Amino acid sequence: MKLSTNHLLGIKDLTPQDIRLILDTAQQFKEVLQRPVKKVPSLRDVTVVNLFFENSTRTRISFELAEKRLSADVLNFTSSASSVSKGETMLDTVNNILSMKVDMVVLRHSASGAPHFLAKHISAAIINAGDGINEHPTQALLDALSMEEALGGSLNGKKIAIIGDIMHSRVALSNIYLLTKLGAEVTVAGPPTLIPKYISEAFGVKVSYNIKETLQWCDIANVLRIQLERQNQPLFSSLREYNLAYGISRKLLESLGKKVVIMHPGPINRGVELDSDVADGHESIILQQVENGVAVRMAVLYLLANRES
Ligand code: CP
Repeated sequence: MKLSTNHLLGIKDLTPQDIRLILDTAQQFKEVLQRPVKKVPSLRDVTVVNLFFENSTRTRISFELAEKRLSADVLNFTSSASSVSKGETMLDTVNNILSMKVDMVVLRHSASGAPHFLAKHISAAIINAGDGINEHPTQALLDALSMEEALGGSLNGKKIAIIGDIMHSRVALSNIYLLTKLGAEVTVAGPPTLIPKYISEAFGVKVSYNIKETLQWCDIANVLRIQLERQNQPLFSSLREYNLAYGISRKLLESLGKKVVIMHPGPINRGVELDSDVADGHESIILQQVENGVAVRMAVLYLLANRES
């Protein structure tokens, strides 16, 4: 089977069959990653550039490791150490890199739509590693793989809550597209100022402003970072008050009388959206998410390279 698309710009463009293919392929790569020799020759003679115009820890390292596990030749670009600081445009930067015979581009950019713009102007396969407040497709795919593992199978009919700064989160949008395509029930929860007004009508999700009720309803809570760097005016009174009203504490989890799996894409604001004893507690699968990121990114790289050949 092949993907229906030449790029991974967003989950919005994927079919449920594409998503299933990526998750099943990632499962196979997870088995490869358990072996003493973790490297396979699938992307030998393929050159990938990781273009990061915005900071990243998990996504950048995970893509680089995935590419190396697949035997690709890897180039790393960070805008702060490049000629972008001298005024060079993103398109000129990419065209210069591609003239050195690069086959695939992994792009993170603070501007929503940057990978879509690039896809109109270059022929190399593009993978969106997070664009502004639009999408973060590989995060949603690794989240889905982690959810399936935690729940022991299909997400169809499962109850998933996405909690926190929905307004500024590309992780939220990619998760909503993916989970609804796989038949999960989705509730977004948080303060009214951090939830877009028409999200229910536009995306078929429920909205809640009550965290305890949401936790009582869901099988899994995917808790999001408060993105202060994307807020140009205060949207809640203080981080302390946010933590008291919407943060997840051990006391709150223990008051539920049921187990809820806790996820977070990272980086975590400890003591704001998640207390430390929850982030590091037995309900948390946050580090499994990071582990699954390598296999998911291997699957995406492999399937897109295979589509080209
Ligand atoms: N989850 C995530 O995108 O983390 P980074 O910003 O560290 O890549």
